[in-house]
Amino acid sequence: MSRKIIVAGNWKMNKNAAEGKALVEALKGELADISFDDADVVVCPPFTTLGSVIEAAACSRIGVGAQNIHWAASGAFTGEISADMLVSSGVKYVIIGHSERRQYFGETDATVNSRLKAALGAGLTPIVCVGETLAEREGNRTEAVLARQIREGFAGIDAAVAPGIVVAYEPVWAIGTGKTATPDVAQAAHAFIRSELAGVFGTEAAEAIRIQYGGSMKSENARELLSQPDIDGGLIGGAALKADSFAKLIREAIAGSKN
Ligand code: PGA
Repeated sequence: MSRKIIVAGNWKMNKNAAEGKALVEALKGELADISFDDADVVVCPPFTTLGSVIEAAACSRIGVGAQNIHWAASGAFTGEISADMLVSSGVKYVIIGHSERRQYFGETDATVNSRLKAALGAGLTPIVCVGETLAEREGNRTEAVLARQIREGFAGIDAAVAPGIVVAYEPVWAIGTGKTATPDVAQAAHAFIRSELAGVFGTEAAEAIRIQYGGSMKSENARELLSQPDIDGGLIGGAALKADSFAKLIREAIAGSKN
């Protein structure tokens, strides 16, 4: 089955409103020669930068995503942002359960599940992050961790909406470290994730779900990673903060996906 690739930039806590606008303007120029039929391209700035980025991306096919979402519709949740606030601002995607949120902000598989339900209920495309730490990999627990993150994170989700979910496999030891998973290691994890998704949603839905790789992906390794059968895109941190490096990576990813 052919899945359209999706490359998303996770800007993390970088770029104020003016810087975000400038980055998207530059990216539009850099991407003038690519076909958006080959790849979905998304940028995920911080909340306060969303407005200027949505405005800058308006006349383009660059999608805009947030980096978090709260599960409640409204109420006494200081510092949180609801699905409706995102949708009514023009946001289309949302990253859920990034390892930095799991590590520093108490995110659990249960809160990932609640946020995922809120995102799907509002028609947002969720990018749900899973991945093992170095200790888990070295302790031979990678598959057990991925299986738990998927089974608990995706509990109670209707298989009919599952094809609209994007999963990002981000081995924690590869994020921001310069240590990318080799294409073989990444492919094995992606294939395992897809088999777990099939256990939850059935084979047909699992075959339709796009699974991104994330963790030190750059233009130098994007082509080989994307040529793997179960790698359907990338979630990019550092290399997404400059228009030229992000655009180069997207072109390599498209080339790899056509291999
Ligand atoms: P990185 O980050 O590309 O800088 O490793 C990826 C991510 O955390 O999404």
